[in-house]
Amino acid sequence: MKGIILAGGKGTRLYPTTIAVSKQLLPIYDKPLIYYPISTLLLAGIKDILIISTPDDIEQYIKLLGNGEKLGINFTYKVQDQPKGLAEAFILGEDFIGDDDVCLILGDNIFWGARLLELLQGAKNSNEHATIFGYPVANPTEFGVVEFDEAGNVLSLEEKPEKPKSKYAVPGLYFYDNSVIEIAKNIKPSPRGELEITAVNNEYLKRKQLKVQKLFRGIAWLDTGTASNMLRAGMFVETVQDRQGLYIACIEEIAWRQGFINDEQLRNIGTELKQTDYGKYILSLLDKE
Ligand code: DAU
Repeated sequence: MKGIILAGGKGTRLYPTTIAVSKQLLPIYDKPLIYYPISTLLLAGIKDILIISTPDDIEQYIKLLGNGEKLGINFTYKVQDQPKGLAEAFILGEDFIGDDDVCLILGDNIFWGARLLELLQGAKNSNEHATIFGYPVANPTEFGVVEFDEAGNVLSLEEKPEKPKSKYAVPGLYFYDNSVIEIAKNIKPSPRGELEITAVNNEYLKRKQLKVQKLFRGIAWLDTGTASNMLRAGMFVETVQDRQGLYIACIEEIAWRQGFINDEQLRNIGTELKQTDYGKYILSLLDKE
């Protein structure tokens, strides 16, 4: 399975901070926001990752992440000229996806918590055509919203409805089979001019090929849509890391635990970063083993 991270957009809700810097490069506590979705893909066992961003910002991502060799994985890059919608990722990524299945994650979505690895690997290895998730939130009008019947079957999906039919938002993490490319090519732009991911999901629903899995309560899906949400996410990460002494979204640690890199490669990365707590943490992993 291939992975795509969408790290474009204009970030207008965070202006002036994001006038000159891409949102997904901003820090959430001690690491760039994009590390969090990368960690989610690595936990799912996905090693081929396409990063999509704007013409202005793509070079910064290349500078930060390179070709992935250091992590034993592959990063490739693609420019999205205009933010024409999340579903455009599959059109831009057609050659990259090839004949594979694909997982799309939004560059500003953070997942953390109990049984996440199991959940991700389950979604990746299932035979479903499309798996998306439902997560209860206090402000569903700001998201894609999924409505279930009493038996848990999906009744409807709506993008940012004024009157949401449920409190279940759809997080920015989507697993699809290869037909998503053809589906994305055939959906029409919404009234706001975007190729909506909700339109893709509605097509799978129409085909009776959509599985919506409710996320367990023990999983945190953190919103980074506004300045205060970013601050709260940063404080959450700091609190958990400080309490447990275990890092959230340390992509080098995950690559090492997944066996993508060996002790020596991890030591080299830790040594480069040893001026920081982040680097010291990486080196401490080798001491503990
Ligand atoms: O976060 C989950 C929500 O993400 C879902 O519940 C919604 O169904 C989905 O439409 C999306 O809503 P947002 O309003 O959060 O999408 P936004 O336009 O903010 O874009 C999400 C991320 O994707 C953001 O980091 C920018 C990036 N992006 C967005 C667009 C439209 C791109 O890279 N390219 C784009 O064309």
